[in-house]
Amino acid sequence: MADPRFSILSEDFAADPYPHLAGLREQSPVHYEPAVDSYFLSRHQDVKRVLTDHEAFTTETLQVRAEPVMRGPVLAQMTGAEHTAKRKIVVRGFTGEALRDQVRAVEANAAEVVAPYLPRGRIDLVNDFGKPFAVRVTLDVLGLDKEDWRQVMAWLGGVGEFITSIVLTPERRRHCLDCAERLEGYLAPVIARRRRHPGDDLISTLCAAEFDGIAMSDRDVTALVFNVLVAAIEPADKTLGLLFKHLIDHPGQLAQVRQDPALLSAAIAETLRYTPPVQLIPRQAEKETEFAGTVVPAGATVFCMIGAANRDPDVFSAPDTFDIHRPDLGTARSFAAAAQHLAFGAGLHSCVGAAFARAEIETVAALLLPLLEQVRYSPGFVYRETGLYTRGPASLSLDFTPVHEGVAGHG
Ligand code: HEM
Repeated sequence: MADPRFSILSEDFAADPYPHLAGLREQSPVHYEPAVDSYFLSRHQDVKRVLTDHEAFTTETLQVRAEPVMRGPVLAQMTGAEHTAKRKIVVRGFTGEALRDQVRAVEANAAEVVAPYLPRGRIDLVNDFGKPFAVRVTLDVLGLDKEDWRQVMAWLGGVGEFITSIVLTPERRRHCLDCAERLEGYLAPVIARRRRHPGDDLISTLCAAEFDGIAMSDRDVTALVFNVLVAAIEPADKTLGLLFKHLIDHPGQLAQVRQDPALLSAAIAETLRYTPPVQLIPRQAEKETEFAGTVVPAGATVFCMIGAANRDPDVFSAPDTFDIHRPDLGTARSFAAAAQHLAFGAGLHSCVGAAFARAEIETVAALLLPLLEQVRYSPGFVYRETGLYTRGPASLSLDFTPVHEGVAGHG
């Protein structure tokens, strides 16, 4: 970082950001990137301050990023009473009794998606399993047809690219907008049907919900469905892949988790701390603010570097070590807004799906671990992560002892 040519946008950083993070925190904790005219904050205390000081740092940059593809107002760009009320509606859709039903959908989808790979003894946990599984479960929960998962995933790819790209060519921009339009077209008849014949799915809940005594419009419902689709799938499938990678790389801890599945919760929390799938959270500075002696001007875009904050030695001892037993993890509150790690954000906009994500990943891992005996990387497999904004394994080819009887009873 003493090197003035260092850039967070470099190929070197994209290939593996983690070796650069200590240098950033120590020497350039408020790192300015001229190409994107933005400040990147890497210290835990600065990131937490930005995420929890809602007066000084707004989600306006997210609005600019999301609005053209989200087809209406999403939680991230709302404030005040509207945000509180609509957030509550979504939270209710993913906790309590609803969550218990959703765990059954998680089990059924996981068993179905993994089944064809069991007799082969080989699976790409990211592309064969994690992605199709996470899309199908989310479609199930929303009350959409899970058989449409490939098509929905392709459209979502375009929507996600629009929101998370640092630079977008005009052609890609057109493609992303086209994906958003098609996804909206796909949802419109479903929303109309649920208004006439409500079921017990999330789209029906959103259609029946009121804000300020007024029923939510189709545009409101569409935007919240987009919100859930975009927010729920990608980080969940990435976390699952990362959890397996870290456990395989730490065979002692893998053996402990196999023996005592109650440790899974800590293993997932430590995965989220060590390698958070959402690496950057943008905010806009409302007024001039000073961090570690550097002044960030009013109106500036600030990126919170979650991966760097989660490895800050001021908060976590031996932060570059994966340790499911670390005493400073605070597992009990790791899936709540008060978590010590910042993988779910912090403050008013922290993740509404944290409890669901925990149940989802815990259920899947508890189902997969006993099935994948002797799990190891496939011969010749080379591990590679991608993504600056959201980050996870490009693939995870695993070999295990083939299973010849079915998995009936697990689903
Ligand atoms: C391991 C999985 C997940 C991770 C790491 C994660 C991470 C995050 C983060 C970092 C934020 C804060 C963004 C900000 O402050 O601007 C967020 C917000 C959000 N997440 Fe998650 N998420 C996960 C799973 C889910 C799931 C499963 C759902 C849906 C059920 C979900 C729905 C949302 C929504 C709707 C928001 C916006 C909340 C608001 O602005 O009030 N997420 N998530």
